[in-house]
Amino acid sequence: MKHLVVFTPSGKRGSFETGTPVLEAAQQLGVDLDSVCGGRGICSKCQVTPSFGDFPKHGVFVDESAVSAWNAIEQRYHDKRGLKPNRRLGCQLKIQGDLIVDVPAESQVHKQVIRKAASSRKIEMNPATKLYYVEVLEPDMHEPKGDLERLKTALAEQWNIDDTHASISIVKKLQSILRKGDWGVTVAVYSTPSESLRRIVNIWPGYHDASIYGLAIDLGSTTIAAHLTDLRSGKVIESSGVMNPQIRFGEDLMSRVSYAMMNADGASAMTNEVRKAINKLVLELAESAKIEPEDILEVVFVCNPVMHHLLLGIDPVELGQAPFALATSDALYLDAKDLNLVSLIDDARI
Ligand code: FES
Repeated sequence: MKHLVVFTPSGKRGSFETGTPVLEAAQQLGVDLDSVCGGRGICSKCQVTPSFGDFPKHGVFVDESAVSAWNAIEQRYHDKRGLKPNRRLGCQLKIQGDLIVDVPAESQVHKQVIRKAASSRKIEMNPATKLYYVEVLEPDMHEPKGDLERLKTALAEQWNIDDTHASISIVKKLQSILRKGDWGVTVAVYSTPSESLRRIVNIWPGYHDASIYGLAIDLGSTTIAAHLTDLRSGKVIESSGVMNPQIRFGEDLMSRVSYAMMNADGASAMTNEVRKAINKLVLELAESAKIEPEDILEVVFVCNPVMHHLLLGIDPVELGQAPFALATSDALYLDAKDLNLVSLIDDARI
């Protein structure tokens, strides 16, 4: 038997068989309902609120019996963390009659947030790095395959994520994490349209019950300002700044370029100084926000051309003379280890 289900605020609607989980109905209709654990009842990202009564606007009357009873998984989550009144887990809630389901803002992946402190633009959340919980097949003597290959298969089968790439740093810690998590792991995957490869950025045993973070850094010739941002909520959770220590090599940009021209190790000395300051800033921000630096998975830098070259370890000498050619004028995608940002994990994306 099929029942009409209407999701608010999107207004998306469709008919579903008795017993279909609300999360599955949402995914089929393309409703923006979050899930990290793939419906296993551990992440609680899929929270929804069913509404009961008469809804003439939608042509639906919703009876209390239209939803399955509160189950043990919901009770377990409620006892541990607490669910707000009338909230249910969309992956546990089964459709049994015509239904109106509200998806609260915090359960929407692409929720809109307004960041007044940084600017007043509306931003649609679409982070490049997301967490996925997967259950990986245990090794089998008769199916000789590596742990990494079985992890990739799990990502493809459970989340439709193909072509994932893992660096040697990930491969080195993979075996102990898989066993510690009893073959259940949370994987942070970074993907952007500009890169065909998807990268495994970090991995944790079991369900990683913490958020992941990004840093936005404005690297100026006088100051370095950084905003630590929660990649799930979009909130700026901490901001800080330090003086650019390169100032002792020259007050302004051109005097730093001159310093690089006149001293054989000048450019590399300035590169080392600024990277040291950034590493210190990252650790201070993580400490004051009470988060682990290993949960910072992305950093975006903006800077003028001279700061850009010096951060990347490129000699800025061409910027000091006409026609002022940049080594590259496009954005670069790097790993933290490429810039020797040792306060971050090797694979954090820059
Ligand atoms: S999808 Fe994770 S708890 Fe429902």
